[in-house]
Amino acid sequence: MRMRVGLGLVVLISVFAFAVPRGWAQQKVPPKPFDLIEWNGGKFIFGVDYYPEHWEESQWEKDAAMMQAAGINFVRLAEFAWVKMEPAEGRFDLAWLDRALKVLNAHGIKAVLGTPTASPPAWLMAKYPDIAAMDENGVRYRYGSRRNYCLHNPNFIAATRRIVTAMAEHYKKHPGVIGWQIDNELGEPYCYDAVCRAAFQKWCRVKYQSLDALNKAWGTIFWGHTYLSWAEIPLPWNTLYKAFNPSLALDYRRFHSEATRDYLRLQVDILRQIAPGQAITHNAMGMYDGIDYSDLHTVLDFVAWDNYPMFADQANYAGPGLSHDLMRGTKPKQNFMVMEQQSGLPGWTTFWGRQAAPGLFRVWDYQSVAHGADGVCHFRWRTSRYGTEQYWQGILDQDSYPNARYQTVSRTGKELGQLTDLLRGSRVVSSVALLVSPDTRWAFQIQPPVKDFNYNQQLHHYYDAFRHAGISVDVLFPRSDFSKYKVIVAPALFVLDESLVEKLTTFVKNGGTLVLSYRTGVKDQHNVFTNQTLPGPLAELAGVAIHDYDPQVGQEQEVVATDGTHWPARVWFDILDPTTAQTLATYGKGYYAGKAAATLNRLGNGTVFYIGTEFSSPEPYARLVDFIAKEAGLPQLAGLPQGVEFAVREKPGKKIIFLLNYTENPQKVTLDRPYQNALTGESEAAEVPIPAFDVKVLTNR
Ligand code: GLA
Repeated sequence: MRMRVGLGLVVLISVFAFAVPRGWAQQKVPPKPFDLIEWNGGKFIFGVDYYPEHWEESQWEKDAAMMQAAGINFVRLAEFAWVKMEPAEGRFDLAWLDRALKVLNAHGIKAVLGTPTASPPAWLMAKYPDIAAMDENGVRYRYGSRRNYCLHNPNFIAATRRIVTAMAEHYKKHPGVIGWQIDNELGEPYCYDAVCRAAFQKWCRVKYQSLDALNKAWGTIFWGHTYLSWAEIPLPWNTLYKAFNPSLALDYRRFHSEATRDYLRLQVDILRQIAPGQAITHNAMGMYDGIDYSDLHTVLDFVAWDNYPMFADQANYAGPGLSHDLMRGTKPKQNFMVMEQQSGLPGWTTFWGRQAAPGLFRVWDYQSVAHGADGVCHFRWRTSRYGTEQYWQGILDQDSYPNARYQTVSRTGKELGQLTDLLRGSRVVSSVALLVSPDTRWAFQIQPPVKDFNYNQQLHHYYDAFRHAGISVDVLFPRSDFSKYKVIVAPALFVLDESLVEKLTTFVKNGGTLVLSYRTGVKDQHNVFTNQTLPGPLAELAGVAIHDYDPQVGQEQEVVATDGTHWPARVWFDILDPTTAQTLATYGKGYYAGKAAATLNRLGNGTVFYIGTEFSSPEPYARLVDFIAKEAGLPQLAGLPQGVEFAVREKPGKKIIFLLNYTENPQKVTLDRPYQNALTGESEAAEVPIPAFDVKVLTNR
């Protein structure tokens, strides 16, 4: 009986919610910031990725009831179900999806539908074999996997339009469908077929206007590769010695990133036109560097991404932390959601990780929230019995037993329901930002300075040190607004164009603190080596000149700070000649012993650090952060134990503190004063105990 009343109410609320026109639903472009909680009818999004097509229909009702009992109010459906929705060209069957939605909606669960283009049906690929992308050796990928299509193929584009239009027409007014996920994890493969080559040649023509300009920009006179017609321009495919022009290769990556955005936009345009009341997103991949997400996400209503923290050291929260912050930074004025949150062991051909304690899944859910997620959707509801991902665990295993992971998810679901009002409208606020450059990432993929070099590790050295000091970090891209930050860290800023140089110069002139590191200012925007003394266009700002450097594969150097402390260093050694900067540390060994390794330059109220190497341990980074934080007046949290994260969301008059214990031991954190436990309502002493694999959410009264 209770159930009946509950269902009736849910249906009434759903219909009402749909009938009342929301402001943005009436407009072509939704206003920003997008409010995810409002979009989900006032509920904090707590969901699962569900594949009803993998299970008997008789199972659906049991699943929906179990979901509802766990506090689940959201599902993502259908992103791999193209063949079931269009079993033959132009013939559609959505009745099964209607039935699945009916069952789920009746349990108060709303849906995002995935457009299914990441996995084209076998019939489509058989009829149009040229849909398959071509690898760098000129061989088309054979059928059997997914994401195997060519973005520019006219047959694929026509098929995309057909399925997206059919889905949009069918679901545009469905009260239980609140939005769309385009495709799935857009990115690769790169395609090297004739259609893509012609598209690249056209892209080059638009960009450079004349072959003279292109030849000059790419320096094609090297090895006499000058192009006399647009049709001669190759792709960076497999060549003898794998040699290709780095300028061409960088432009090809830009071209691929833009083409991916345009393919996404093709789908977005159809949906916006037919179903303007439904929101649109995509599931991005965090640190994945094939695509410029700061560009891709301009087309979407909000950012969603797929968070799988179990590959790394489970207590190293900075890995998923940086991914969250980077994703948030791609659409910086609003919160985001996690579309796939890890819910069990990962694996395809074999298991790829070790099992996490059930409590850790709750901690990771809260970490997403702490970094600005207004929704967490778990991949997947139940582990598949079929196909490639039988080793990729969902919340439930194949037997549907309500295991410990299910109990944990249920607990989190109830708690997030309780915290919704508090969380609503709150955001992460940072004075420190990390600058991530897509051009630099691509240029390093093409020509890493040495084998040991890892750009993400560069980011992490600085990011982790700030986070361990309890300092929030945003991620910026060259197109972002730099003006509100006190500190910008831009490690290994390899590729620079004039506008970025200007933005960084203005930032420093306005009193900002800029941290640069080795391999900065080496290339211009065409991936051509600068003819200025390094660090090229930033040499004056940094107050140093670099006339020599020493890449040390597998060797360690030693850096000596002015107070006499010694630090091992690795990977790369810029030998610095300060022009206006003061020396903070020198090298301890080799022919350049005594030369500067790290410097500080003052320009008016602004400060520029140049760190010419990579330290082997976290301590020097911690010291640098301590120094910067003190100078910039940034509050730090001393004594944060290893494996315990401190994160904050804020809104006017409210501070929401998350203390996250990723370790198997109870821990304690001392805060600046006592706060209230947001879940129990009780007051907590300033010294807060956090049990093993547990979380405290605290707030001011
Ligand atoms: C990705 C995909 C999912 C699934 C998981 C696990 O995140 O988006 O479809 O394949 O990985 O492999």
